[in-house]
Amino acid sequence: MPNAKISGIGFFVPPKVMTNEDLSQFMDTNDEWIQERTGIQERRYVENGVSTSDLAIPAVEMAMDNAGLEKGDIGLIIFATSTPDYYAPGSGCLLQEKMKFPTIGALDIRVQCSGFVYGLSVAQQYIENSIFKHVLVIGSEVQSTAMDLSTRGRDTAVIFGDGAGAVVVSASKDDSGILSTHLHSDGAYAKELWVEAPSSGISPRLNQEILDDGKHFLKMNGREVFRHAVTRFPEVIIESLDSNGFSSEDIDLLVPHQANIRIAQMIQKRLGLRDNQIYSNIHKYGNTTAASVPIALCEAVNENKVKKGDLVVLAAFGSGFTWASAILRW
Ligand code: COA
Repeated sequence: MPNAKISGIGFFVPPKVMTNEDLSQFMDTNDEWIQERTGIQERRYVENGVSTSDLAIPAVEMAMDNAGLEKGDIGLIIFATSTPDYYAPGSGCLLQEKMKFPTIGALDIRVQCSGFVYGLSVAQQYIENSIFKHVLVIGSEVQSTAMDLSTRGRDTAVIFGDGAGAVVVSASKDDSGILSTHLHSDGAYAKELWVEAPSSGISPRLNQEILDDGKHFLKMNGREVFRHAVTRFPEVIIESLDSNGFSSEDIDLLVPHQANIRIAQMIQKRLGLRDNQIYSNIHKYGNTTAASVPIALCEAVNENKVKKGDLVVLAAFGSGFTWASAILRW
């Protein structure tokens, strides 16, 4: 049985920088509040007209170049996003056409911040079962257009940003690659972090009342999200370690979903990790939902913080609630 190994990685963030100071022009907030509570200094926003599948293209090109592959080599596109271009069709199909991939399958994954790790787990199954030799896994998000950039939405709006990351998962005969993946969900908390409308349960799906009430914006119960995140992250990381006979001391690098620096600090404390065992770039990009893990992993690789043979753990928690981990031998 082949191993499923990350053979190429890439990311892209839009050039427009939105600092905390910039946000304070639209809403009653300030740099000190945002940095103290989230660790975020700035995030990136797309220009009007740039959608989620557009943002993914440079990330995919970089990952394919890094893997040394052509479009015809890819067997399947897995596209994780919580901010798809349209309600239908999925962003994976749009990317297939925009990048002129052959007419391969394009599967969208809608589990928000955990989407990329879920996507890796799907790719792993196709590779290990020798269905495909190379699978593309993408996390891409345009969150800026889902933000209420008024004081009403400030608790959520300051956290999220736009960006895309992509990997190629390939069949490998050596002993590196994904060792295991672990997926979870609990829909009892669906409304703690959600976009209420447009909804299939409302006719018409979008109306003036929805717009006036701001139900089309992402809404978050920050305290409840925080409370669950600091429990579920360590839990699912330990699950990945236990399943493979490791302990937290064995981790060379943990790349958590970049939700919030205070959540990352709690994870580090609970697992007893040294500073150099956990990666963070949230100060630059904010929380980019499904894109955050591949963006952070790519930057960690580019900064030589991941070396061949390292034990790398990826972990995510988000809306759903969903949470997941992947443990890899690099
Ligand atoms: N700027 C300034 N003040 C703000 C603000 C902002 N952007 N957002 C909220 N406030 C205010 C609140 O209105 C409140 O004011 P009040 O005391 O007068 O009522 C005060 O700050 C404290 O608000 P509160 O919500 O209690 O703050 P908090 O300490 O719980 O921090 C979060 C809020 C969102 C930073 C925090 O709950 C959190 O980190 N949650 C997890 C979020 C997350 O990681 N989400 C992504 C998961 S994938």
